[in-house]
Amino acid sequence: PTITFVDHRGVRRDIEIAEGHSLMEGARDAGIDAIAADCGGACACATCHVYIDDAWQARVSPRDSMEEEMLDFAAAQTDSRSRLACQITINASHNGLTVHTPETQG
Ligand code: FES
Repeated sequence: PTITFVDHRGVRRDIEIAEGHSLMEGARDAGIDAIAADCGGACACATCHVYIDDAWQARVSPRDSMEEEMLDFAAAQTDSRSRLACQITINASHNGLTVHTPETQG
């Protein structure tokens, strides 16, 4: 699936992420600077914070309680669109997904 990352300046980048990989892994492997992913995907750093439009939320797995708690530590403001990219596993239905990264991450 092709995923579009948009940074806080509005710069867009389309990347391919293999099914079964996390949104964070795909971003890291593609060199998306805004995704530091300091903890390596353990849901323990919140440096993979992204915003996913409400329209897409139904197509990604819901937040669990660990993700909810870790989002409290995100550097940027969180809202209903906030997710940790390491907690989202990519599948075919995510083709065309657009995610925005916070200003605090780059
Ligand atoms: Fe650390 Fe996602 S990579 S919380």
